[in-house]
Amino acid sequence: MRVLVTGGAGFIGSHIVAALLERGHDPVVLDALLPAVHPVRPTLPEGVACLEADVRNPAEVARALGGVDAVCHQAAMVGLGKDFADTPAYVSCNDHGTAVLLAAMAEAGVDRLVLAGSMVVYGEGRYDCPEHGPVRPGPRRAGDLAARRFEPRCPHCGGELVPGLVSEDAAMDPRNVYAVTKLAQEHLARSWARATGGRAVSLRYHNVYGPGMPRDTPYAGVASFFRSALARGEAPRVFEDGRQRRDFVHVRDVAMANVLALEALGSHAAGGFEAFNCGSDAPRTIGEMARVLSAACGGPEPVVTGEYRLGDVRHITATSRRLRQALGWQPRVGFEEGMTEFACAPQRRLSHPVSTAAPATQ
Ligand SMILES: NC(=O)c1ccc[n+]([C@@H]2O[C@H](COP(=O)([O-])OP(=O)(O)OC[C@H]3O[C@@H](n4cnc5c(N)ncnc54)[C@H](O)[C@@H]3O)[C@@H](O)[C@H]2O)c1
Ligand SMILES: [Zn+2]
Repeated sequence: MRVLVTGGAGFIGSHIVAALLERGHDPVVLDALLPAVHPVRPTLPEGVACLEADVRNPAEVARALGGVDAVCHQAAMVGLGKDFADTPAYVSCNDHGTAVLLAAMAEAGVDRLVLAGSMVVYGEGRYDCPEHGPVRPGPRRAGDLAARRFEPRCPHCGGELVPGLVSEDAAMDPRNVYAVTKLAQEHLARSWARATGGRAVSLRYHNVYGPGMPRDTPYAGVASFFRSALARGEAPRVFEDGRQRRDFVHVRDVAMANVLALEALGSHAAGGFEAFNCGSDAPRTIGEMARVLSAACGGPEPVVTGEYRLGDVRHITATSRRLRQALGWQPRVGFEEGMTEFACAPQRRLSHPVSTAAPATQ
């Protein structure tokens, strides 16, 4: 299968290209090689064509689609911008870019799409109140966080909540511009599928980590911050009480989910769109992650600081059962194994790190 991987020079895209090659497919890459993400020109595997072009350029996208059977759309501006003034750039890259790509696919008769979705579409994770069942707490208040009351409370009775696993049916609650653009990408893909008889799948990635992850940016995620601290010989600084739960999924597992989704699309009903969580199904805390990374590096024990950032999500973990059932996919890289490898693997330096005010999840 010839697959156009947009953003194929990026962190996740490059692992998808490698996984496609391993399974005997024929990947081609379209990537704008954004200077903020690639201060140094990346090298692609031998024999893989890379069109250095912007996904918003209709002529280039049409050219890239020649002879292509399916598209794996990873190109996006990731994370949060420096401030709200970055909004037009995010919307343009992520949503206008997706619209141009989908229009070109319709024109070229390419009817299979796998989209890089994100858990950010859910906002907070799932919570249950023993009295009120599933509830949706709003953003946490600064006063509570300052008083070290980190757990969200039931909006009805103020009682303690039990964090659960988000399923694909959870209500959408995008809480920042990036999240809005990721949700809009899904809506565009759904409309495209319906209008053209195409087949689309969105894989809502959780916290992706692994070799090639950019470093020292908030959108690189908290794992990257800890690693950078350890590389300087410093203890990882764990915010809140370290008990925030996340779902860390290894980039090679995410890449394989993309390949399996691409392979399965041919048998999907025409005109259909489906979203799947793509996580490890093994929630861990930020504190646990810091300890595993420190141990792997022989570095200092993490320090739990009680600091917090307004807008950070307390817990967000998902069930990926649907994806496992639909594709026979299994995450293969265990947490200790993956984090130990990550602790020692090279990271990508970015040219100008973006705001540290951004939440640590994406
Ligand atoms: N990293 C995560 O944990 C995570 C989590 C959820 C979703 N995602 C999604 O996964 C996808 C890949 O993310 P990543 O972490 O590999 O990021 P990345 O920044 O490493 O890769 C993105 C790539 O897209 C390219 N790109 C950006 N805008 C483009 C444009 N307009 N035209 C052409 N190319 C463009 C960049 O040059 C880069 O190579 C994104 O869609 C992101 O929203 C990532
Ligand atoms: Zn309650």
